[in-house]
Amino acid sequence: MDVESAIRSRRTHKAFRPDPVTRDLLDELLEVARWAPNHHLTNPWRFRVIGPLARAKLKESAGPEAAPKLDRAPTLVAATALRSEDPVQDQEDLCATACAIYAVLLAAHGRGLAGYWRTPGVLRTQRGLDALAIPRGERFVALIHLGWPWQEKRPPDRLPAENFITYLD
Ligand SMILES: Cc1cc2nc3c(=O)[nH]c(=O)nc-3n(C[C@H](O)[C@H](O)[C@H](O)COP(=O)(O)O)c2cc1C
Repeated sequence: MDVESAIRSRRTHKAFRPDPVTRDLLDELLEVARWAPNHHLTNPWRFRVIGPLARAKLKESAGPEAAPKLDRAPTLVAATALRSEDPVQDQEDLCATACAIYAVLLAAHGRGLAGYWRTPGVLRTQRGLDALAIPRGERFVALIHLGWPWQEKRPPDRLPAENFITYLD
C-alpha cells in the first residue's frame, strides 16, 4: 500500500477479534515509531505494552463503569512522551510523539490490523498512571488499541481542504 492510500484508508476501529497481536508483530510496529521526525533526535516516545496484570490494574483504577471499555481491544499499548524542562523542547517532543503514534497506527493498518487512538479519562488520573507505572517525567499521550478488525469501517466526513489552507502573499 502506498503512503497516501494508507493515510486515506486508515480508520478508527472499536470492534476487534479476540486474538492478540503477537509480540513479533508488535516489535515490528513499534520499531516504525523511531523513524518519526523528532527535533534534535530526542527520541521522546515511550511505549508500554500492557499485559494482563497491568490491564487489570488499569481497569480497577478506571472503576466499574469505565472498565469494560478497556477490554475492547485484545492488545493495548500506552504511549507517553518524555517531559522536558525546556518548554520549547517539551512541546516539540509531544508533537514528535504524536507523529510516532500515527506511524504505528499506519504501520498497523498497512499490515491489515485495526487501530484506535484513545485517551481515556483514567489516564488523566494519578491512579491510572500508577497502574501502568508511568512516572512523573512522562506525559500520557495515547492508549493505542490494536487487534484484527471485526468489520470494515467507513471514514467520517472530513472538511474540504480549502477550509484549512491559506496561501499568504
Ligand atoms: C489526540 C487524539 C485523541 C483521541 N482520543 C479518542 C478517544 O478518547 N476516544 C475516541 O473514541 N477516539 C479518540 N480519538 C480518535 C478520533 O476520534 C478519530 O481519529 C476521529 O473520529 C476520526 O476517525 P478516523 O480515525 O477513522 O479517521 C483520538 C484521536 C486523537 C488524534
